[in-house]
Amino acid sequence: MARPAIRVENLGKRYRIGVEEEQHETLLGAMGSWFTAPISNYRRLRDLSHFEDDENRDDVLWALRDVSFEIHPGEVVGFIGRNGAGKSTLLKLLSRIAYPTTGHIELVGRVSSLLEVGTGFHQELTGRENVFLNGTILGMTKAEVASKFDEIVEFSGVGKFIDTPVKRYSSGMKVRLGFAVAAHLEPDILIVDEVLAVGDIAFKKKCLGKMDEVSKSGRTVLYVSHEMSTVTNLCQRAYVLSGGQIVHQGPVQEAVEWYLDDMEVLDRDNLRLDEVDENERGGDGRLRFTSAYLVDRRGRHTHAPTAGEPVEVVLEYEAQEDLPRVMFWLRIDNHLNVPVSVLHMRSHETYYDIQKGTGRVRCRIPNLPLPNGAYQIKIKAKDYVQGHMLDALESALEFEVSASTFFGSDYTPDINHSTVLMEHGWTHEEHIDASVSPS
Ligand SMILES: Nc1ncnc2c1ncn2[C@@H]1O[C@H](COP(=O)(O)OP(=O)(O)OP(=O)(O)O)[C@@H](O)[C@H]1O
Ligand SMILES: [Mg+2]
Repeated sequence: MARPAIRVENLGKRYRIGVEEEQHETLLGAMGSWFTAPISNYRRLRDLSHFEDDENRDDVLWALRDVSFEIHPGEVVGFIGRNGAGKSTLLKLLSRIAYPTTGHIELVGRVSSLLEVGTGFHQELTGRENVFLNGTILGMTKAEVASKFDEIVEFSGVGKFIDTPVKRYSSGMKVRLGFAVAAHLEPDILIVDEVLAVGDIAFKKKCLGKMDEVSKSGRTVLYVSHEMSTVTNLCQRAYVLSGGQIVHQGPVQEAVEWYLDDMEVLDRDNLRLDEVDENERGGDGRLRFTSAYLVDRRGRHTHAPTAGEPVEVVLEYEAQEDLPRVMFWLRIDNHLNVPVSVLHMRSHETYYDIQKGTGRVRCRIPNLPLPNGAYQIKIKAKDYVQGHMLDALESALEFEVSASTFFGSDYTPDINHSTVLMEHGWTHEEHIDASVSPS
Protein backbone atom coordinates (compact mmCIF):
# COMPACT_ATOMS: atom_id res chain seq x y z
CA MET A 1 0.00 0.00 0.00
CA ALA A 2 1.18 3.53 -0.83
CA ARG A 3 2.70 5.60 1.89
CA PRO A 4 0.05 7.61 3.74
CA ALA A 5 -0.09 11.34 3.01
CA ILE A 6 -0.88 11.97 6.67
CA ARG A 7 -0.18 9.76 9.63
CA VAL A 8 -1.15 10.89 13.08
CA GLU A 9 -0.41 8.98 16.25
CA ASN A 10 -1.75 9.60 19.75
CA LEU A 11 -2.11 13.25 18.99
CA GLY A 12 -3.13 15.42 21.93
CA LYS A 13 -3.44 19.13 22.55
CA ARG A 14 -3.85 20.54 26.01
CA TYR A 15 -4.89 24.11 26.66
CA ARG A 16 -4.93 26.00 29.85
CA ILE A 17 -8.30 27.66 30.17
CA GLY A 18 -8.11 31.40 30.60
CA VAL A 19 -4.58 31.62 29.24
CA GLU A 20 -5.03 32.74 25.67
CA GLU A 21 -2.50 31.21 23.39
CA GLU A 22 -2.03 33.59 20.53
CA GLN A 23 -3.89 32.33 17.50
CA HIS A 24 -2.66 32.58 13.96
CA GLU A 25 -4.59 31.41 11.02
CA THR A 26 -1.53 30.63 8.97
CA LEU A 27 2.02 29.64 9.30
CA LEU A 28 2.85 33.09 7.98
CA GLY A 29 1.08 34.72 10.90
CA ALA A 30 2.77 32.40 13.35
CA MET A 31 6.20 32.99 11.84
CA GLY A 32 5.66 36.73 11.64
CA SER A 33 5.05 37.11 15.32
CA TRP A 34 7.92 34.82 16.22
CA PHE A 35 10.16 37.28 14.44
CA THR A 36 8.61 40.36 15.97
CA ALA A 37 8.20 39.14 19.52
CA PRO A 38 10.50 36.20 20.13
CA ILE A 39 10.98 36.81 23.83
CA SER A 40 7.39 37.26 24.84
CA ASN A 41 6.50 34.25 22.74
CA TYR A 42 9.14 32.19 24.39
CA ARG A 43 7.81 33.10 27.81
CA ARG A 44 4.24 32.51 26.82
CA LEU A 45 4.92 29.17 25.21
CA ARG A 46 7.02 28.04 28.09
CA ASP A 47 4.23 29.00 30.39
CA LEU A 48 1.67 27.18 28.28
CA SER A 49 3.65 24.02 27.93
CA HIS A 50 4.77 23.82 31.56
CA PHE A 51 1.89 22.04 33.14
CA GLU A 52 2.09 20.71 36.56
CA ASP A 53 1.71 16.99 36.53
CA ASP A 54 -1.73 17.09 37.98
CA GLU A 55 -3.82 15.87 35.05
CA ASN A 56 -7.03 16.76 36.74
CA ARG A 57 -6.42 20.43 37.29
CA ASP A 58 -9.64 22.07 36.38
CA ASP A 59 -8.07 24.89 34.39
CA VAL A 60 -6.64 22.37 31.95
CA LEU A 61 -8.56 21.28 28.91
CA TRP A 62 -7.69 18.58 26.41
CA ALA A 63 -8.95 20.03 23.13
CA LEU A 64 -7.68 16.88 21.43
CA ARG A 65 -6.78 13.54 22.94
CA ASP A 66 -5.37 10.23 21.67
CA VAL A 67 -6.17 10.90 18.06
CA SER A 68 -4.65 8.47 15.56
CA PHE A 69 -5.40 7.95 11.88
CA GLU A 70 -3.94 7.56 8.42
CA ILE A 71 -5.03 9.33 5.28
CA HIS A 72 -3.83 8.27 1.85
CA PRO A 73 -2.89 10.49 -1.07
CA GLY A 74 -5.93 11.57 -3.08
CA GLU A 75 -8.44 10.94 -0.29
CA VAL A 76 -11.01 13.59 0.53
CA VAL A 77 -11.78 13.29 4.21
CA GLY A 78 -14.31 15.15 6.30
CA PHE A 79 -14.10 15.93 10.01
CA ILE A 80 -17.43 16.56 11.67
CA GLY A 81 -18.57 17.17 15.21
CA ARG A 82 -20.31 19.61 17.49
CA ASN A 83 -18.96 23.03 18.44
CA GLY A 84 -15.85 22.60 20.52
CA ALA A 85 -15.29 18.99 19.46
CA GLY A 86 -11.67 19.72 18.49
CA LYS A 87 -11.92 19.91 14.69
CA SER A 88 -10.17 23.24 14.28
CA THR A 89 -7.55 22.28 16.85
CA LEU A 90 -6.74 19.17 14.81
CA LEU A 91 -6.47 21.14 11.57
CA LYS A 92 -4.25 23.73 13.25
CA LEU A 93 -1.90 21.01 14.44
CA LEU A 94 -1.80 19.50 10.95
CA SER A 95 -1.09 22.95 9.49
CA ARG A 96 1.66 23.47 12.09
CA ILE A 97 0.05 26.62 13.36
CA ALA A 98 -0.22 25.10 16.82
CA TYR A 99 1.99 22.46 18.36
CA PRO A 100 0.84 19.16 19.83
CA THR A 101 1.18 18.40 23.52
CA THR A 102 1.46 14.67 22.85
CA GLY A 103 1.93 12.38 19.88
CA HIS A 104 3.24 13.12 16.46
CA ILE A 105 2.28 13.93 12.90
CA GLU A 106 3.86 12.74 9.66
CA LEU A 107 2.96 14.64 6.53
CA VAL A 108 4.20 13.91 3.06
CA GLY A 109 4.33 16.95 0.81
CA ARG A 110 3.32 20.57 0.92
CA VAL A 111 0.38 21.57 3.05
CA SER A 112 -1.72 24.61 2.39
CA SER A 113 -4.60 25.54 4.61
CA LEU A 114 -7.45 27.92 5.04
CA LEU A 115 -8.66 27.96 8.59
CA GLU A 116 -11.78 29.42 10.12
CA VAL A 117 -12.71 33.02 9.62
CA GLY A 118 -9.18 34.40 9.87
CA THR A 119 -7.55 34.28 6.54
CA GLY A 120 -3.83 33.98 6.89
CA PHE A 121 -2.79 37.20 5.33
CA HIS A 122 -0.47 39.87 6.54
CA GLN A 123 -2.93 42.71 7.03
CA GLU A 124 -0.63 45.57 6.02
CA LEU A 125 0.47 43.95 2.76
CA THR A 126 -1.50 44.06 -0.46
CA GLY A 127 -3.30 41.08 -1.91
CA ARG A 128 -0.55 40.69 -4.50
CA GLU A 129 2.23 40.73 -1.90
CA ASN A 130 0.37 38.21 0.20
CA VAL A 131 -0.02 35.81 -2.70
CA PHE A 132 3.74 35.83 -3.24
CA LEU A 133 4.52 35.51 0.45
CA ASN A 134 2.23 32.52 0.85
CA GLY A 135 3.78 30.86 -2.18
CA THR A 136 7.27 31.39 -0.81
CA ILE A 137 6.29 29.90 2.52
CA LEU A 138 4.97 26.85 0.67
CA GLY A 139 8.41 26.50 -0.88
CA MET A 140 7.61 27.78 -4.36
CA THR A 141 9.91 30.01 -6.37
CA LYS A 142 8.82 33.50 -7.36
CA ALA A 143 8.51 32.32 -10.97
CA GLU A 144 6.27 29.43 -9.95
CA VAL A 145 3.97 31.76 -8.04
CA ALA A 146 4.00 34.24 -10.93
CA SER A 147 2.84 31.51 -13.30
CA LYS A 148 -0.18 30.87 -11.07
CA PHE A 149 -0.88 34.49 -10.21
CA ASP A 150 -3.45 35.32 -12.90
CA GLU A 151 -5.38 32.14 -12.22
CA ILE A 152 -5.50 32.94 -8.49
CA VAL A 153 -6.75 36.47 -9.04
CA GLU A 154 -9.29 35.33 -11.58
CA PHE A 155 -10.65 32.62 -9.27
CA SER A 156 -10.84 34.98 -6.30
CA GLY A 157 -12.72 37.68 -8.19
CA VAL A 158 -10.94 40.41 -6.17
CA GLY A 159 -8.79 41.58 -9.11
CA LYS A 160 -9.74 45.24 -8.68
CA PHE A 161 -8.38 45.24 -5.14
CA ILE A 162 -5.29 43.14 -5.64
CA ASP A 163 -2.99 46.12 -4.92
CA THR A 164 -4.99 47.24 -1.88
CA PRO A 165 -3.79 46.27 1.62
CA VAL A 166 -5.66 43.23 2.80
CA LYS A 167 -6.84 45.05 5.95
CA ARG A 168 -9.28 46.94 3.72
CA TYR A 169 -10.86 43.73 2.39
CA SER A 170 -14.26 42.55 3.56
CA SER A 171 -14.27 39.15 5.28
CA GLY A 172 -15.81 37.61 2.16
CA MET A 173 -13.01 39.05 -0.02
CA LYS A 174 -10.34 37.72 2.33
CA VAL A 175 -11.85 34.27 2.22
CA ARG A 176 -12.06 34.42 -1.58
CA LEU A 177 -8.41 35.31 -1.98
CA GLY A 178 -7.40 32.94 0.82
CA PHE A 179 -9.12 30.02 -0.80
CA ALA A 180 -7.79 30.90 -4.25
CA VAL A 181 -4.23 30.99 -2.91
CA ALA A 182 -4.56 27.80 -0.87
CA ALA A 183 -6.09 25.84 -3.73
CA HIS A 184 -3.91 27.08 -6.60
CA LEU A 185 -0.45 26.87 -5.10
CA GLU A 186 -0.40 23.16 -5.86
CA PRO A 187 -0.35 21.85 -2.33
CA ASP A 188 -0.12 18.11 -1.86
CA ILE A 189 -2.48 18.44 1.07
CA LEU A 190 -5.27 21.03 1.14
CA ILE A 191 -6.92 21.77 4.48
CA VAL A 192 -10.12 23.81 4.62
CA ASP A 193 -11.92 24.67 7.87
CA GLU A 194 -15.45 25.99 7.68
CA VAL A 195 -14.52 29.29 5.95
CA LEU A 196 -16.71 28.71 2.96
CA ALA A 197 -19.73 29.65 5.02
CA VAL A 198 -18.61 33.27 4.70
CA GLY A 199 -18.64 33.27 0.90
CA ASP A 200 -21.78 33.62 -1.16
CA ILE A 201 -23.47 30.57 -2.63
CA ALA A 202 -21.89 30.90 -6.07
CA PHE A 203 -18.41 31.15 -4.61
CA LYS A 204 -19.01 28.25 -2.24
CA LYS A 205 -20.05 26.12 -5.18
CA LYS A 206 -16.93 27.12 -7.06
CA CYS A 207 -14.74 26.21 -4.08
CA LEU A 208 -16.35 22.80 -3.66
CA GLY A 209 -15.78 22.20 -7.37
CA LYS A 210 -12.16 23.28 -7.03
CA MET A 211 -11.57 20.98 -4.04
CA ASP A 212 -13.04 18.12 -6.02
CA GLU A 213 -10.67 18.93 -8.88
CA VAL A 214 -7.70 19.14 -6.49
CA SER A 215 -8.53 15.69 -5.12
CA LYS A 216 -9.03 14.20 -8.59
CA SER A 217 -5.49 15.26 -9.45
CA GLY A 218 -4.30 12.94 -6.70
CA ARG A 219 -3.95 15.44 -3.88
CA THR A 220 -5.35 15.02 -0.41
CA VAL A 221 -8.13 17.24 0.94
CA LEU A 222 -9.28 17.60 4.55
CA TYR A 223 -12.54 19.42 5.04
CA VAL A 224 -14.41 20.62 8.12
CA SER A 225 -17.95 21.93 7.94
CA HIS A 226 -21.22 22.00 9.81
CA GLU A 227 -23.04 21.83 6.50
CA MET A 228 -23.57 18.12 6.15
CA SER A 229 -24.68 18.35 2.53
CA THR A 230 -21.31 19.80 1.47
CA VAL A 231 -19.50 17.13 3.49
CA THR A 232 -21.42 14.30 1.84
CA ASN A 233 -21.00 15.83 -1.61
CA LEU A 234 -17.27 16.33 -1.32
CA CYS A 235 -15.83 13.67 0.95
CA GLN A 236 -15.49 9.92 0.58
CA ARG A 237 -15.13 9.21 4.26
CA ALA A 238 -15.35 11.12 7.51
CA TYR A 239 -14.27 11.11 11.13
CA VAL A 240 -16.63 12.18 13.88
CA LEU A 241 -14.97 14.06 16.74
CA SER A 242 -16.45 14.54 20.16
CA GLY A 243 -14.75 15.91 23.25
CA GLY A 244 -11.40 15.89 21.43
CA GLN A 245 -11.55 12.23 20.44
CA ILE A 246 -12.49 10.29 17.35
CA VAL A 247 -15.74 8.58 18.25
CA HIS A 248 -16.66 7.23 14.85
CA GLN A 249 -15.27 6.86 11.36
CA GLY A 250 -16.57 5.41 8.13
CA PRO A 251 -17.86 6.09 4.63
CA VAL A 252 -19.15 9.64 4.57
CA GLN A 253 -22.88 8.97 4.39
CA GLU A 254 -22.73 6.51 7.24
CA ALA A 255 -20.54 8.79 9.38
CA VAL A 256 -22.88 11.74 8.82
CA GLU A 257 -25.87 9.64 9.82
CA TRP A 258 -24.06 8.42 12.89
CA TYR A 259 -23.24 12.00 13.86
CA LEU A 260 -26.77 13.30 13.30
CA ASP A 261 -28.21 10.38 15.28
CA ASP A 262 -25.77 11.09 18.06
CA MET A 263 -26.74 14.76 18.06
CA GLU A 264 -30.35 13.76 18.24
CA VAL A 265 -29.78 11.77 21.41
CA LEU A 266 -28.02 14.74 22.98
CA ASP A 267 -30.66 17.11 21.72
CA ARG A 268 -33.64 15.19 22.99
CA ASP A 269 -34.09 17.73 25.75
CA ASN A 270 -34.19 20.45 23.13
CA LEU A 271 -37.38 18.99 21.76
CA ARG A 272 -39.17 20.52 24.68
CA LEU A 273 -41.04 23.64 23.74
CA ASP A 274 -42.82 24.24 27.02
CA GLU A 275 -39.81 26.18 28.25
CA VAL A 276 -39.86 28.60 25.32
CA ASP A 277 -40.32 32.09 26.67
CA GLU A 278 -43.84 33.56 26.49
CA ASN A 279 -42.42 36.58 24.61
CA GLU A 280 -41.20 34.33 21.85
CA ARG A 281 -44.53 32.76 21.12
CA GLY A 282 -47.85 34.10 19.85
CA GLY A 283 -51.45 33.22 20.62
CA ASP A 284 -53.51 33.52 23.77
CA GLY A 285 -51.99 30.51 25.50
CA ARG A 286 -55.10 28.37 25.93
CA LEU A 287 -53.11 25.76 24.07
CA ARG A 288 -49.33 25.48 24.24
CA PHE A 289 -47.08 23.28 22.12
CA THR A 290 -44.87 21.25 24.43
CA SER A 291 -42.77 19.38 21.90
CA ALA A 292 -42.13 19.10 18.14
CA TYR A 293 -40.07 16.48 16.37
CA LEU A 294 -39.70 14.42 13.23
CA VAL A 295 -40.18 10.68 13.02
CA ASP A 296 -38.70 8.60 10.21
CA ARG A 297 -40.17 5.54 8.48
CA ARG A 298 -38.80 3.29 11.20
CA GLY A 299 -40.59 5.34 13.85
CA ARG A 300 -37.40 6.89 15.21
CA HIS A 301 -36.87 10.54 16.10
CA THR A 302 -34.69 12.15 13.49
CA HIS A 303 -33.06 15.47 12.64
CA ALA A 304 -31.98 14.11 9.29
CA PRO A 305 -34.91 12.80 7.27
CA THR A 306 -34.20 11.31 3.85
CA ALA A 307 -35.75 12.95 0.79
CA GLY A 308 -38.08 10.56 -1.02
CA GLU A 309 -39.01 8.74 2.17
CA PRO A 310 -41.97 9.20 4.50
CA VAL A 311 -41.59 11.47 7.49
CA GLU A 312 -43.99 12.64 10.17
CA VAL A 313 -43.97 15.98 11.93
CA VAL A 314 -45.23 15.32 15.44
CA LEU A 315 -46.60 18.16 17.58
CA GLU A 316 -47.42 17.64 21.25
CA TYR A 317 -49.51 20.13 23.19
CA GLU A 318 -51.27 20.88 26.41
CA ALA A 319 -54.72 22.57 26.34
CA GLN A 320 -55.97 24.59 29.32
CA GLU A 321 -59.62 24.03 28.41
CA ASP A 322 -61.81 22.19 25.90
CA LEU A 323 -61.31 23.73 22.48
CA PRO A 324 -63.71 22.84 19.67
CA ARG A 325 -62.55 23.34 16.08
CA VAL A 326 -58.82 23.74 16.32
CA MET A 327 -56.69 23.81 13.19
CA PHE A 328 -52.97 23.18 13.14
CA TRP A 329 -50.53 24.12 10.45
CA LEU A 330 -46.84 24.29 9.87
CA ARG A 331 -44.54 26.08 7.50
CA ILE A 332 -41.23 24.73 6.27
CA ASP A 333 -38.59 27.41 5.54
CA ASN A 334 -35.27 26.78 3.86
CA HIS A 335 -31.79 28.03 4.84
CA LEU A 336 -32.50 31.45 3.27
CA ASN A 337 -35.75 31.70 5.26
CA VAL A 338 -37.70 31.25 2.06
CA PRO A 339 -41.01 29.49 2.76
CA VAL A 340 -40.94 26.17 0.93
CA SER A 341 -44.39 24.92 1.81
CA VAL A 342 -47.32 25.34 4.18
CA LEU A 343 -48.99 22.19 5.48
CA HIS A 344 -52.38 23.36 6.71
CA MET A 345 -55.40 21.45 7.97
CA ARG A 346 -57.48 23.96 6.01
CA SER A 347 -56.25 22.33 2.80
CA HIS A 348 -58.00 19.20 4.06
CA GLU A 349 -61.09 21.09 5.30
CA THR A 350 -60.69 19.46 8.65
CA TYR A 351 -60.21 20.41 12.31
CA TYR A 352 -59.91 18.68 15.66
CA ASP A 353 -62.14 19.05 18.70
CA ILE A 354 -59.66 19.19 21.52
CA GLN A 355 -60.20 18.29 25.12
CA LYS A 356 -58.48 19.87 28.06
CA GLY A 357 -55.16 18.17 28.75
CA THR A 358 -52.35 16.85 26.63
CA GLY A 359 -52.44 15.52 23.10
CA ARG A 360 -50.45 14.80 19.99
CA VAL A 361 -50.99 15.74 16.36
CA ARG A 362 -49.15 14.04 13.49
CA CYS A 363 -48.67 15.45 10.04
CA ARG A 364 -47.52 12.80 7.58
CA ILE A 365 -45.48 13.63 4.49
CA PRO A 366 -45.47 10.45 2.39
CA ASN A 367 -42.55 11.31 0.11
CA LEU A 368 -40.38 14.17 1.39
CA PRO A 369 -39.69 16.35 -1.66
CA LEU A 370 -36.85 18.51 -0.29
CA PRO A 371 -33.36 18.98 -1.71
CA ASN A 372 -30.34 18.38 0.53
CA GLY A 373 -29.90 21.25 2.97
CA ALA A 374 -31.05 22.81 6.23
CA TYR A 375 -34.63 23.75 7.11
CA GLN A 376 -36.73 24.97 9.98
CA ILE A 377 -40.39 24.61 10.80
CA LYS A 378 -42.80 27.17 12.24
CA ILE A 379 -45.93 25.81 13.91
CA LYS A 380 -49.31 27.31 14.70
CA ALA A 381 -52.66 26.36 16.25
CA LYS A 382 -55.82 28.42 15.91
CA ASP A 383 -59.28 28.28 17.47
CA TYR A 384 -61.72 28.54 14.54
CA VAL A 385 -64.75 29.14 16.75
CA GLN A 386 -63.51 32.42 18.18
CA GLY A 387 -60.97 33.04 15.44
CA HIS A 388 -58.14 33.38 17.96
CA MET A 389 -54.60 32.17 17.58
CA LEU A 390 -53.78 29.72 20.37
CA ASP A 391 -50.04 29.26 19.97
CA ALA A 392 -47.43 30.19 17.36
CA LEU A 393 -43.75 29.31 17.39
CA GLU A 394 -41.39 30.81 14.87
CA SER A 395 -38.68 28.22 15.07
CA ALA A 396 -40.08 25.08 16.61
CA LEU A 397 -37.88 22.56 14.87
CA GLU A 398 -34.78 22.39 12.70
CA PHE A 399 -33.68 19.58 10.47
CA GLU A 400 -31.23 18.74 7.74
CA VAL A 401 -31.81 16.67 4.64
CA SER A 402 -28.54 15.09 3.55
CA ALA A 403 -29.61 11.94 1.78
CA SER A 404 -32.16 11.25 -0.91
CA THR A 405 -33.92 8.33 -2.53
CA PHE A 406 -36.33 10.71 -4.26
CA PHE A 407 -35.29 9.94 -7.83
CA GLY A 408 -33.82 6.55 -7.06
CA SER A 409 -30.56 7.64 -8.73
CA ASP A 410 -27.33 9.03 -7.38
CA TYR A 411 -28.08 12.60 -8.44
CA THR A 412 -30.42 14.86 -6.50
CA PRO A 413 -30.10 18.64 -6.95
CA ASP A 414 -29.20 20.39 -3.71
CA ILE A 415 -30.71 23.35 -1.92
CA ASN A 416 -28.64 25.87 -3.87
CA HIS A 417 -30.27 24.78 -7.11
CA SER A 418 -33.83 24.08 -6.13
CA THR A 419 -36.35 24.65 -3.39
CA VAL A 420 -38.35 21.54 -4.02
CA LEU A 421 -37.90 18.17 -5.71
CA MET A 422 -40.43 17.61 -8.44
CA GLU A 423 -41.49 14.26 -9.87
CA HIS A 424 -40.94 14.36 -13.60
CA GLY A 425 -40.28 12.26 -16.67
CA TRP A 426 -38.50 12.68 -19.98
CA THR A 427 -39.37 11.57 -23.49
CA HIS A 428 -37.52 11.93 -26.74
CA GLU A 429 -38.54 11.87 -30.38
CA GLU A 430 -36.37 12.07 -33.48
CA HIS A 431 -36.80 13.36 -37.04
CA ILE A 432 -39.73 15.52 -36.08
CA ASP A 433 -42.02 16.87 -38.75
CA ALA A 434 -42.41 20.60 -38.16
CA SER A 435 -45.78 20.67 -39.93
CA VAL A 436 -47.38 18.46 -37.29
CA SER A 437 -45.77 20.17 -34.27
CA PRO A 438 -48.22 21.94 -31.99
CA SER A 439 -48.28 25.65 -32.84
N1 LIG B 1 -6.28 28.81 22.15
C1 LIG B 1 -7.08 28.13 22.96
N2 LIG B 1 -6.96 28.24 24.31
C2 LIG B 1 -7.74 27.55 25.15
N3 LIG B 1 -8.71 26.70 24.73
C3 LIG B 1 -8.88 26.54 23.40
C4 LIG B 1 -8.08 27.25 22.44
N4 LIG B 1 -8.47 26.88 21.20
C5 LIG B 1 -9.48 26.00 21.37
N5 LIG B 1 -9.73 25.79 22.68
C6 LIG B 1 -10.74 24.87 23.24
O1 LIG B 1 -10.55 23.61 22.67
C7 LIG B 1 -11.79 22.96 22.42
C8 LIG B 1 -11.86 22.55 20.97
O2 LIG B 1 -11.96 23.71 20.17
P1 LIG B 1 -11.99 23.70 18.58
O3 LIG B 1 -11.90 25.10 18.12
O4 LIG B 1 -10.96 22.74 18.08
O5 LIG B 1 -13.44 23.11 18.28
P2 LIG B 1 -14.20 22.91 16.90
O6 LIG B 1 -14.54 21.47 16.79
O7 LIG B 1 -13.44 23.52 15.80
O8 LIG B 1 -15.54 23.71 17.17
P3 LIG B 1 -16.45 24.62 16.19
O9 LIG B 1 -17.39 23.68 15.50
O10 LIG B 1 -17.19 25.50 17.13
O11 LIG B 1 -15.55 25.36 15.25
C9 LIG B 1 -12.86 23.95 22.84
O12 LIG B 1 -13.29 23.60 24.12
C10 LIG B 1 -12.15 25.28 22.84
O13 LIG B 1 -12.71 26.14 23.81
MG1 LIG C 1 -13.81 25.13 14.52
